[in-house]
Amino acid sequence: MCGIVGYLGNHSSKSILLDGLSELEYRGYDSAGIAVLHDGEFSYFKAVGKLENLIRKTAEFDTNGFSVGIGHTRWATHGKPTEINAHPHLGNSSYVVHNGIIENYQSLKKQLTAKGKNFLSQTDTEVIVHLFESHLEEGVAPVEAFRQTIHEIEGAYAVLLVTKSKPDTIFFAKNGSPMIVGTNESDEKFFGSSDAALIGNCSQVIYLEDSQLGYVTPTKIYIENESGESIAPTFAHLPESKLSAQKEGFRFFMEKEIYEQSTVISDTLLGRLGSDTIIFDEIEPNLLEGIREIKLCACGTSYHAALASSYLFERLGKIRTSVEIASELRYKEPLLTPDTLFIVISQSGETADTLETLKMAKRAGLRTLVICNVDNSSMVREADGAILTRAGIEKGVASTKAFATQMTVLWMFALYVAQTNKTMTPDTIREQIALLREVPSVVKVPQDLHERLRRLSKRYLHGHGFFFIGRDIFFPLALEGALKLKEISYLHAEGYPSGEMKHGPIALADPELFTIALMPSNMLYEKTKSNVEELSARDATICAISDTPFENADDLIQMVGHTHYMLDFFEIMVILQLLSMEIAIRLGNDVDMPRNLAKSVTVE
Ligand code: AGP
Repeated sequence: MCGIVGYLGNHSSKSILLDGLSELEYRGYDSAGIAVLHDGEFSYFKAVGKLENLIRKTAEFDTNGFSVGIGHTRWATHGKPTEINAHPHLGNSSYVVHNGIIENYQSLKKQLTAKGKNFLSQTDTEVIVHLFESHLEEGVAPVEAFRQTIHEIEGAYAVLLVTKSKPDTIFFAKNGSPMIVGTNESDEKFFGSSDAALIGNCSQVIYLEDSQLGYVTPTKIYIENESGESIAPTFAHLPESKLSAQKEGFRFFMEKEIYEQSTVISDTLLGRLGSDTIIFDEIEPNLLEGIREIKLCACGTSYHAALASSYLFERLGKIRTSVEIASELRYKEPLLTPDTLFIVISQSGETADTLETLKMAKRAGLRTLVICNVDNSSMVREADGAILTRAGIEKGVASTKAFATQMTVLWMFALYVAQTNKTMTPDTIREQIALLREVPSVVKVPQDLHERLRRLSKRYLHGHGFFFIGRDIFFPLALEGALKLKEISYLHAEGYPSGEMKHGPIALADPELFTIALMPSNMLYEKTKSNVEELSARDATICAISDTPFENADDLIQMVGHTHYMLDFFEIMVILQLLSMEIAIRLGNDVDMPRNLAKSVTVE
């Protein structure tokens, strides 16, 4: 996810901005840049790749005396990770940096282009600076021009803007993306999208709230709310440890990433939901022309997302769908026909087996699509089309938020197939879109649930194994639950379709066999219940995850329950992630870096 820094004061802007950006490196980025306004002139530098490239480019540059500066590390969402798309973005005499997504950027871009504005980048961000300058050109004063600009953009943003028309000022705005303003005894002003960028520089900080905007000068911090009323700043103290600041107070990155799922799913949905249509601007409109089958291919957690989505492709899109484990597909001499859309799913975009199957499918003349979290990764470069999942960097080796955003994209893509092939009416698509909009709130972690799972975890630290069982789309989710537990707790766990237990695995049933039963009432509840009863009759220990009380459960994890099984899917996903994590923490394991595992598997 992108990072933002800003500085106003008499010290070297360059050093402060670059130091701040290096503290934000942990968030992941593919390019970086700074712009500094000193003595009425801008200097700006951008570089693709690591921060060292930017440091090298700025080696000869420095400021002496007062300056204002902004900096950014970019994780591409709109437009490739190139120097042109890197922030800051320039108008005529102003620069902007931005985190988040401007949902209405296309219509704004159209209006501004019609007014003669020239866009250099493919980003949504560039509209902000042109919009601001078009107001200046209409004779509007800078503060009002910034206010109008912010009120015209829609979506999620944290914005910093510097302009020659007010050279002692940094403008800021926040909505949905974090932004912190800090100051110190020398009245310097600092900005950061996370505490880590500010620790050591500021004595007090203000955590901006959504819909606030304002500006800083050498003598002032001005903040106003949505209605333009001035807000008295509320100062807070910064945490002292940079590592804990990076983890934002969570014990592990995995925990932080589980809690981030609501925000990143919102980002994934942004700009892609119309009232009764799914919008994927990034793919060619004729992608599905002549396509009669979908083949999904991936590894690990991404494979589970593929398997889960196959239920949606067939059910909603009415298209024949098959799913393959990449390492298997490579050598099975598969029948690949050109009427098949070959979709690879990968968080990293670098997994060797998945990448090889993508190349194989291309050689066989298939149209290819990648669903990926990393722009410019090998798979994104290789595939005919790419849909980015916008989860931001995932540091925990055990995938959580990447899976959540993969599922979100795949659900949307199944609807996109349905709308293209007219297998659903606009009304039924509208109903599904309404459900998609609920997902960010469904995955928010209620504190009482987390506490309940933490307490429950102490009963599941031993035994001779876990079976995660479910039916339909809850079977791949059971596989994913078992994988999560295995990866971080080192306990033996398997995922099974509930109905398969009696065909062999039930032989293992005894009190030391723990069954985690996924039992939402919206999906084949009675069928699953009978399967769980068979296990409980053989004395297996049952932990049921359900919205319905179940008398045979030894433990019941009570779901909120929803109107649709897909919302149950996301609720149970969070429960399984937290349960595994709490078991692993109790066992004293390093949850973020489990033994024997690597984040990106680039060997066969
Ligand atoms: C998930 O928790 C894993 N660590 C692993 O299974 C992962 O999903 C797999 O290696 C595939 O990675 P990818 O999504 O980057 O291709």
